[in-house]
Amino acid sequence: MGDKIKRIGVLTSGGDAPGMNAAVRAVVRSAVGMGIECIGIRRGWTGLISSDFVKLDGSSVSHIINKGGTMLYTARSLDFMERAGREKAIGTCKLLGLDGIVAIGGDGTFRGALALSRQVAEDGQKLDVVGIPATIDNDIGCSHYTIGFDTACNTAVQCIDKLRDTMQSHERCSVVEVMGRHAGYLALYVGIAVGATAVLIPERPVDFENDVVENIRRARLAGSTHYMVVVAEGAGNAYEIADQIKEKMSIDPRVTVLGHIQRGGSPTARDRELASRMGYQAVQVLAQRKGNRIVAKQEGSIVDLDMEEALAMTKSLEMDRYDVLEALTNNDGFRNR
Ligand code: F6P
Repeated sequence: MGDKIKRIGVLTSGGDAPGMNAAVRAVVRSAVGMGIECIGIRRGWTGLISSDFVKLDGSSVSHIINKGGTMLYTARSLDFMERAGREKAIGTCKLLGLDGIVAIGGDGTFRGALALSRQVAEDGQKLDVVGIPATIDNDIGCSHYTIGFDTACNTAVQCIDKLRDTMQSHERCSVVEVMGRHAGYLALYVGIAVGATAVLIPERPVDFENDVVENIRRARLAGSTHYMVVVAEGAGNAYEIADQIKEKMSIDPRVTVLGHIQRGGSPTARDRELASRMGYQAVQVLAQRKGNRIVAKQEGSIVDLDMEEALAMTKSLEMDRYDVLEALTNNDGFRNR
């Protein structure tokens, strides 16, 4: 844990996101190109606790840029939240002689990284950590975009397009639940992209009568015979919403919970490109020994921010997107979609 950076670790933690592999590749190749050795920590923080690692070189990360998931595996570690767990992880860092760690994941991953770095500092040692935001939820406050979001949106759109074919044929209503945890980014983007009849998101209190019943009525009046209701998992339960629609409108909806399918698949060009830029930037930051940082996308640029400040940042879903949805799909003059 000396002054000039010689060896770094890279790990992926929390829910996987398409593009994580591209980020790992970028970290490894950027590091190797600068004469920095790179160790892959498997299974996120769990692997740092149990000394589960692999030495990586430029060729270890060949042919992964196009692959979903993460070659390093991932996990959510409860032990790492405890001091004792982190003490074991620090043992692994010492054993491996790590000067820094690139942690690819979400908020929880970054909080773990910061706690680790602080605990190392208590002994007068230094371990720099850099976070790269990767989650399909797009819910990291300091970054306008997170790796995996675009791929997940496209996957959900493809699935819903397929659903629409059968809903149209049977003149049915579909209620589709998408992921996003406590955020509605995925649901709103996807809802706009599929021309949904209604979209329910946690950022906007649900007015069932106005947002669902009225929208379906309008679509029906405009001549539509099938309806697509997109529900963010944080906004409600798709089955309960379907039951309410049935009760109020004498329509018998079909429910689809897209679930983990949204986390898989080959990353889109957008996710690969962003992951590559962020991975490269993370290594530059470590090489400069700037301390604990999070690499983020702000407007068109990749920036790095103080980790503690970045973790306190919030962002909000631009609600004008909701207006766009309403204007385009629920105008009396148009058929649904
Ligand atoms: O954070 C990513 C995410 O896929 C969320 O959208 C979802 O709520 C959660 O992870 C699911 O977690 P798990 O894979 O543990 O079921």
